[in-house]
Amino acid sequence: MDISVLPLAAGQMKAKVADESQLGFGRIFTDRMLLVEWTAEQGWHNARIKPYEPFVLDPSAQVFHYAQEIFEGLKAYKWADGRVALFRPEKNARRFNLSADRLCMPELPEELFVEGIKQLVGLEQDWIPTAAGTSLYIRPAMIGVQPVLGVNPSDHYYFFVILSPVGAYYAAGFKPVSIMVEDHYVRAVPGGTGEAKTGGNYASSLKAGLEAKKKGFDQVLWLDGREQRYIEEVGAMNMFFVYGNRIVTSALNGSILSGVTRDSVLALGKKLGCTVEETKIDVNELMADIKAGKVTEAFGSGTAAVITPVGKLYYKGETVQLGGGGVGELTQKLYDTLTGIQTGALPDEFGWVTFVK
Ligand code: COI
Repeated sequence: MDISVLPLAAGQMKAKVADESQLGFGRIFTDRMLLVEWTAEQGWHNARIKPYEPFVLDPSAQVFHYAQEIFEGLKAYKWADGRVALFRPEKNARRFNLSADRLCMPELPEELFVEGIKQLVGLEQDWIPTAAGTSLYIRPAMIGVQPVLGVNPSDHYYFFVILSPVGAYYAAGFKPVSIMVEDHYVRAVPGGTGEAKTGGNYASSLKAGLEAKKKGFDQVLWLDGREQRYIEEVGAMNMFFVYGNRIVTSALNGSILSGVTRDSVLALGKKLGCTVEETKIDVNELMADIKAGKVTEAFGSGTAAVITPVGKLYYKGETVQLGGGGVGELTQKLYDTLTGIQTGALPDEFGWVTFVK
């Protein structure tokens, strides 16, 4: 599908942040966005790259009431030789369609997803920050915009992509975060939408997140929705526990997000000579293993969070320390290897990188 590029008036161009250490996460947006529409009659049509601006939507639009929304997150990096790299965008395209299917939204051709992003990022490449730990965060999303209050799938959708120059997801940067194991609220249940990347999963996580923050923790670690016994994920990250040379993460079970970074960590872990294990992790056994000193490191993985060391875990009145409260050796190695591949400092032996022309 041809994507038209609408002109950008001088007044629609924003100033870039001069100090890249002040970027934070997802607060600044570039000058342009991608928008494609879908209707039952026309399918996907009217693909255009246009100035970044607010939508005008009917107050009855489906997304405002019944939350028919899905999204993705990936990043673009400017390499030292000037090339612009994307990391495994086809994985995001595939997952986007799995989420679309779960939310009864139309399938988006993977090529349109990837090509649309490439064209948009190509036009906006001056916005890609280059300081260590920074990148251009890409946020594709789809919303149902039909103006009707009946509870049905929408007959009109917007697929759009916005771009945000970002630094670290957690304000402290690459430092250990403290995590509270949530034993009251649940994020997902078997048969629910946990595996889909849909806004509702995040809306329903806010209350637990706020309560955890009040107690001094950065985020919550979700347990399974049936027994509240098995480790699932941290909302913005998949979780990994390191037992010496063994890396353990929760097996995908239909309610855990199948992270692109998670998948990359499993491959990199093997490459670095570790045993990797995807299994059910019982929180009580995990706490006992941590107390017995068997768990040498813990970290989370995600596109936004990259690899984030976990320094403390709280569960049922007890706080345990991980990795001596600092950044573990393997966590650091995985972070350096992953970001090295993404930024071109290390060879891409897995063929994960694709370039924007
Ligand atoms: C990402 O890692 O890209 C995510 O989608 C997590 C997020 C909600 C910021």
